[in-house]
Amino acid sequence: MKHLLSTQELDVDQALTLLDTAEEFQAVANRQVPKLPTLRGVTMVNLFFEDSTRTRLSFEAAAQRLSADIMTFQVHGSSVSKGESLKDTAQTLEAMGADIIVIRHPSSGAPATLASSGWVNSSIINAGDGAHEHPTQALLDAMTLRQRFHSEPRGALLTGLSVAIVGDIVHSRVARSNVFLLTTLGAKVTLVGPPALLPQGVDDWPVHSTYDFDDAIDSAPDAVMMLRVQRERMGDGSLISHKDYVRNYSLTRARADRLPQDSIVMHPGPMNRGVEIASHVADSPRSVILDQVRNGVSVRMAALYELRGGQA
Ligand code: NCD
Repeated sequence: MKHLLSTQELDVDQALTLLDTAEEFQAVANRQVPKLPTLRGVTMVNLFFEDSTRTRLSFEAAAQRLSADIMTFQVHGSSVSKGESLKDTAQTLEAMGADIIVIRHPSSGAPATLASSGWVNSSIINAGDGAHEHPTQALLDAMTLRQRFHSEPRGALLTGLSVAIVGDIVHSRVARSNVFLLTTLGAKVTLVGPPALLPQGVDDWPVHSTYDFDDAIDSAPDAVMMLRVQRERMGDGSLISHKDYVRNYSLTRARADRLPQDSIVMHPGPMNRGVEIASHVADSPRSVILDQVRNGVSVRMAALYELRGGQA
């Protein structure tokens, strides 16, 4: 694998290889010195044109644990504000030694453009492009689901697991990447949200969809993945009323109490407590939100490793 651009292009074998490698690396995290020499001499650049806490730091942690060198690019204060193009920026970073470019960009397709343009030879990892895809997030979600529902996660698929993804689907690269990956692995996905926040053409996706969160809760999903309303992607931000949204789509304590005992609650972060998820639910035993963060480091170690040819 030269690039990791989307989960839509991952087949079952590639997805399982990444997830199984992530499981192997997770064992390293539990060591006293959580570091391997695997990517010594390799340079990873974080090229983030949008804000990020978890994704950027977890790529850094992953690279550090594999002994790679790290360069971090801050858009604010860089020559991008002087109009430097993506091409010139990427070529500049490569001239400084970048082998892997981890890019987050507001435009859907920017990572794929970088990968196919011939501007650079580096491997490209998509760390979120517009409303398109966020493949490492979906991989860490799949890893979290496997760990919860399989006592031996290695090699396991997600066959038959039902996952409800709830909220602002239309603006969510997390939702899109999860739809492709989770269904590839055999899970059944239901998308839940108000009409304005479900994508057009959702009927062509390999999923169910509903406007009725209570119905989705009563269908007893194994996992409920809550998403943030991405007002920054809505123009004037007035697609829906806040009050109606909270009433109909918030995972309140009352709704969570109606879930089967073993069902888990997921959220990619950042959370808006009291909006899409009640604080009590986010902090409850069925919440796996911090497991997701933890697994993010292992999944990103696996991605970096596989893009370097899986060589030790
Ligand atoms: C998400 C993102 O940026 O796509 N966060 C993340 O990477 N964990 C989701 C969001 O911003 O709501």
